[in-house]
Amino acid sequence: MRGIILAGGSGTRLRPLTSVHSKQLLPVYDKPMIYYPLSVLMQTGIREILIISTPEHLGAYRSLLGDGGRLGIRLEYAVQDQPKGLAEALLIGREFVGDEQVCLILGDNIFYGHGLPDMLRAEAARLDGCTLFGYPVSDPERYGVATVDEDGTILTLEEKPTAPRSNLAVTGLYLYDNDALDLAAGLAPSARQELEITDLNLRYVEQGRARLVNLGRGSAWFDTGTHDSLLEAATFVQVLEKRQGIRISCVEEVAYRMGYIDAEQLAALGGELSPSTSYGRYVLELAGAA
Ligand code: G1P
Repeated sequence: MRGIILAGGSGTRLRPLTSVHSKQLLPVYDKPMIYYPLSVLMQTGIREILIISTPEHLGAYRSLLGDGGRLGIRLEYAVQDQPKGLAEALLIGREFVGDEQVCLILGDNIFYGHGLPDMLRAEAARLDGCTLFGYPVSDPERYGVATVDEDGTILTLEEKPTAPRSNLAVTGLYLYDNDALDLAAGLAPSARQELEITDLNLRYVEQGRARLVNLGRGSAWFDTGTHDSLLEAATFVQVLEKRQGIRISCVEEVAYRMGYIDAEQLAALGGELSPSTSYGRYVLELAGAA
């Protein structure tokens, strides 16, 4: 399975924070936002990942993450010229995905949950069609909203409905079989001239091949689309990290725990981060080098 992180868009709802910066590089407490979705893919066992961003910002992602070799993964980069919709990621990534399955994650979505990596690996292994992940929210009208039968098969799916049929928001994490590439290529642009991810997912719903897994109470999901949700996500990360003395979505730690790099490589990464930062010290301590 290949991974795609979509880090495009113009971030209009977060201006002036995003007037010159890419939204998905904004800080979420102690690390750039993209570390969170990148960690999710790495923990799912995905080591070949395409990062898609705008022409003006792609270079910053490349400077931050390089070819991924230092984390034991392989990163490629591609441009989305205009914000023409989330489903366009599958057209841009077509060659990169080849004949594999694909996990698409939005670069501004933050997931946290104890059992999440195991669950994602299990879902990837049993994938047939598409699998979406739902999260109960108090404001479903801001999101894609699904209803499901008792087996988790999606019955209805609507984008930002004025009268939501459930409180289950569709999060920005999507597992697709290889059909998604052709299905995305066949989509017509919506009224706002975008290739909508919900339209792609509806193709699978029509075939009865769309499943939704409810992330439920034991996990946290933030979409960081507004100033408030960005701050809430950062506060959540700060509270957990300070209380437990751990780091959430520390990509260096994930690479080490997943066996992508060894303790020596981890120590080198910690050294580069600098022992004068608590993040750097954390990485060095993990490597047994502090
Ligand atoms: C997009 C999707 C929506 C999904 C959301 C998750 O909306 O269109 O279905 O629920 O991401 O973050 P956007 O945030 O681009 O408005």
